[in-house]
Amino acid sequence: MPEGSISGRCLVVVGCQWGDEGKGKIVDVLAEDVDVIARYQGGANAGHTVHVANEEFVLHQIPSGVVHPGKRCLLGNGVVLDVLDFFEEYDALEARGIEVEGRVGVSQRAHLVMPYHRLLDKVAEDRATQKIGTTGRGIGPAYEAKAGRRGLRVVDLANADRVETLVEEGIGRVRRRMADADMEDDGRLDEAVEAALIAGERLQGLATDTGLEIMEAIRGGKRILLEGAQGTALDLDHGTYPFVTSSNTTAGGAATGSGIGPTTIDTVIGVVKAYTTRVGNGPLPTGFDEVMDERLRELGGEFGATTGRPRRCGWFDALLARFSARVNGLTGLAVTKLDVLDTLHEISIATAYRTPGGTVEEFPADTWQLGKVEPVYETLPGWQAPTHEARKLADLPSAARRYLDRVEELTDTPIQMVSVGTRRRQIIRV
Ligand code: IMP
Ligand code: MG
Repeated sequence: MPEGSISGRCLVVVGCQWGDEGKGKIVDVLAEDVDVIARYQGGANAGHTVHVANEEFVLHQIPSGVVHPGKRCLLGNGVVLDVLDFFEEYDALEARGIEVEGRVGVSQRAHLVMPYHRLLDKVAEDRATQKIGTTGRGIGPAYEAKAGRRGLRVVDLANADRVETLVEEGIGRVRRRMADADMEDDGRLDEAVEAALIAGERLQGLATDTGLEIMEAIRGGKRILLEGAQGTALDLDHGTYPFVTSSNTTAGGAATGSGIGPTTIDTVIGVVKAYTTRVGNGPLPTGFDEVMDERLRELGGEFGATTGRPRRCGWFDALLARFSARVNGLTGLAVTKLDVLDTLHEISIATAYRTPGGTVEEFPADTWQLGKVEPVYETLPGWQAPTHEARKLADLPSAARRYLDRVEELTDTPIQMVSVGTRRRQIIRV
């Protein structure tokens, strides 16, 4: 392994903010040194951007490791799979010269996101008093069906009777829901379901037992990377509920969502952006004022990779990062997009929140309280120099190193990687 590479036979890469931390880039860099890459939760709501040479790839369901020739890529049981989107992505990669055939496996136990789940997502958002601002990909309804024990799994696709029963029930449910909401049925649902089931036949050829495959690979001396989607603050249990996604994005979800035991995981890398962003509704305590928000969005290209929505931007939130370090059991941090801050005069970090009940230093459970806190900032001098070419910490301006030192101190987690640009080589391995 090259110097500065991350040890362990089974590592997890997890987002520590509200998603879009740059996990795609970090996974791409780490994928070089592993044999198998598996996604463990989420679905087509994710958008992982990877730059290779002069090309940009945006992955939604297939693990970001796929751009590395020869690596095995798995979608674990914790994923909810949109089969139409999946093959669109699969075929588009093939068309761009990435050999995918034979390299991608899908858990037999993964649930399918069906066209009626997408419709339900839309109905729920349209009618909700408390809009979540979902990606509209049917994620919530698919996980609801899973928890409600009426979901359609990959393994079911081989059984026509089971498919028929489950699909009929799913269609009936959305139709009733739409009638209740006085919504028009555009008549295209049956067609979309039919197309999904045809794609489902193709999917059966990729079905596998991901947990078994991963354990066999480990026993054979191979290394595994479990790739998370979204981030800790969007975790169903630990995030800013109800403004969350419907799965466990955190490291615990990597075990249940890929079908291995937690003791198999030995390394957990938490990805944090050098500042914070959020897309969708819900509080962002360190959010900028309008002018600064616009400025950072332009500097960082902060637009959703899945929906194109502008991301809200704010300062680095050390309360959230420290919380993420704890609930994920982080062994190391990867800080991304440090270069985006290059031109700033001063840079702030939130170290506490002022609340009506006093100052708090732990990320609160009450999302409504979180919406009203006033962050306490520590302000550091900016470095106002380009960092794109830095390949080791010593190459960075001293103010940038001081900033990183402070992040490390406040999160009590060693920084192992710093990303200073979109390219693969623009990385500092500590
Ligand atoms: P859902 O996952 O589509 O149900 O959306 C729930 C919330 O998670 C919304 O605020 C989305 O904007 C957010 N979200 C879902 N996936 C991502 C992602 O990959 N990056 C950032 N935010 C996401
Ligand atoms: Mg993203």
